[in-house]
Amino acid sequence: VSPFLIDTHSRQHNYLRISLTERCNLRCFYCMPSEGIELSPPDHLLSDDEIIRLATLFVRNGVTKIRLTGGEPTVRKGIVEIVGRLNALRQYGLQSIGMTTNGIALHRKLPALVENGLTHLNISLDTLDPFKFEIMTRRMGHNAVLRSLHTALQSPELQSVKLNVVVMRGLNDHEVPDFVEMTRESRVSVRFIEFMPFTGNKWDKAKMVPTTELLARIQMRYPELRKGSDELNDTARSYIIPGHLGSFGFISSMSDHFCGSCNRLRLTADGQIKVCLFDAKEISLRDQMRSGVSDDSLLSTIGRAVRGKKEKHAGMEDIDVVTNRPMILIGGLHRPG
Ligand code: GTP
Ligand code: 5AD
Ligand code: SF4
Repeated sequence: VSPFLIDTHSRQHNYLRISLTERCNLRCFYCMPSEGIELSPPDHLLSDDEIIRLATLFVRNGVTKIRLTGGEPTVRKGIVEIVGRLNALRQYGLQSIGMTTNGIALHRKLPALVENGLTHLNISLDTLDPFKFEIMTRRMGHNAVLRSLHTALQSPELQSVKLNVVVMRGLNDHEVPDFVEMTRESRVSVRFIEFMPFTGNKWDKAKMVPTTELLARIQMRYPELRKGSDELNDTARSYIIPGHLGSFGFISSMSDHFCGSCNRLRLTADGQIKVCLFDAKEISLRDQMRSGVSDDSLLSTIGRAVRGKKEKHAGMEDIDVVTNRPMILIGGLHRPG
């Protein structure tokens, strides 16, 4: 990794998350404020060429892993072509292209995405109950997500297929055993995610189910479960149940953050570099590109942003949700179409 992508805590940033759009075809309440969000004017968003220019710069400086996010990335026009153009960056060292999607509009596009180089797919689905799905997402489409998941699991080109489940007390936490049961016959990696605080999402500690509690509950039902192996930079701590094809894990962003091994940088759809999910500070790479600066100058701006990265987030009670963006505008998923 080039020195520009190393921060003052010696973390090497080889993972870039690129948000392709602010739009979404679902309206999950934990992802965006109930009053909605104001979408950026179209010309404020990065063009395909601008995205590729920045991605190339990052890859040439040591990024090996790119993940496309949103909003909902599949609603961006030209998504298949963008993946294809990113795939050409393998010549400079890019190793994986992932996408985090809600799966609603994925099914039809999946073959072309995979053909163009998509290697890793994370699908968000918080409930196995179609009625609850409608309550949580304020849209229909449960079946479409399941169909996308099923097809993804049958695509041998995809090196991993993960299912993201944001767990909320009293809402979907009783479904956790059903999600674990999915791992019996399917190669899926289910990840249970602690509910995180963002602008307008009415975060409440009481609604968050800490990992330790969930693990204890799962262990009662499956005493034979074992710790799985994890990569250093994984967000999830994984577990397996002997005999099951898949695995499950926990993303404990709140109760046990993994900032020490953070290797991520983010690019928002409107072209800001954001070095931490929970840090409101951003620097516009879009404005610099549009003022005609060179790659070297862009790189020194990126370096400045990276060096400003804090050691860890402020802790669940103190995270700044007032100035930080809602998750939909950072690179979560799920919001206005
Ligand atoms: P992999 O590349 O498969 O490891 O994906 P991922 O888990 O990093 O990303 P995904 O988009 O699937 O996000 C799943 C969850 O990970 C999110 O809901 C967050 O809880 C958490 N997460 C993703 N990125 C970050 C991050 O930069 N910081 C923190 N604290 N949590 C993150
Ligand atoms: N807490 C935890 N996870 C969230 N996501 C969106 N908002 C939140 C939140 N408040 C998840 C989405 C998606 C991932 C990128 O982030 O469900 O899986
Ligand atoms: Fe990285 Fe910030 Fe997430 Fe910590 S909170 S893991 S530093 S992005």
